[in-house]
Amino acid sequence: MRFAKSPSGKTMAIPRHLAIIMDGNGRWANERKLTRTQGHRQGVVAVREIVTNAIDLGIEYLTLFAFSSENWSRPPSEIRDLFGLLKLFINKDLATLHKQNVRVRVMGSRDGLEGDIVALLDKAETLTRNNSGLVLMIAFNYGARQEITAMVQHLAHEVETGRLKADAINESLIAQYLYSGGVPDPDVILRTSGEQRLSNFLLWQAAYSEFIFVDCYWPDFDRNQLELALVEFGCRNRRFGGVSVDEMELTPNALVSGG
Ligand code: FPP
Repeated sequence: MRFAKSPSGKTMAIPRHLAIIMDGNGRWANERKLTRTQGHRQGVVAVREIVTNAIDLGIEYLTLFAFSSENWSRPPSEIRDLFGLLKLFINKDLATLHKQNVRVRVMGSRDGLEGDIVALLDKAETLTRNNSGLVLMIAFNYGARQEITAMVQHLAHEVETGRLKADAINESLIAQYLYSGGVPDPDVILRTSGEQRLSNFLLWQAAYSEFIFVDCYWPDFDRNQLELALVEFGCRNRRFGGVSVDEMELTPNALVSGG
């Protein structure tokens, strides 16, 4: 784990992988008598800021929940606007992301998406494929149960066609067949707006993530909010089902083996 000092002198732990449920655009707009779309637009400003801050702090993977499989139940005009904002973001920001050495990956189903948006997502992934900086995972048309279902279908097909033995299925193979294949599990899953649930986000990958819930709405999530969250992460004692190092008893065996 890497640590850094916040401007107020507190210790922040820097996660290797930070995943964010960007919630509260609608309420942010409501409180200002603005339209929900204006809230989402301000949400994109916060997206730009978190990308820059993640790079600056040396976070390696940033996953942003931009559109869930369940968001299809929103009014068609809001869905159109959200898709429009993603297109605008890629059209306007892709060159900058590329210059920032960001590798863009999109996780989610391409089913039901229009051709032009699929082409844009593909373009973003292809252009930035060889970049070695921050990996920006955009969860778009994403649902964890759908992801797990697709993984099971894929593995079942491999078994059916004889390319894979059922006994060879293990945790690391499952992880490899998820949309997030090759990406380490998130150290932190952060949700803004005060809601405290996972909403079908990264169900498999979240097994040992630390959950951080912050009260501010996504458009207000700035550098200061991020630093406060990372200070909180620094105070967590991650044991992964074991015991923390300072609780370990030095048994005679441990002394002999050095372990
Ligand atoms: C939740 O707020 C936010 C979303 C459903 C969409 C998030 C999208 C963006 C920030 C913009 C597009 C993203 C990218 C990567 C360019 P909400 O509408 O559920 O807010 P509410 O709960 O207050 O109604």
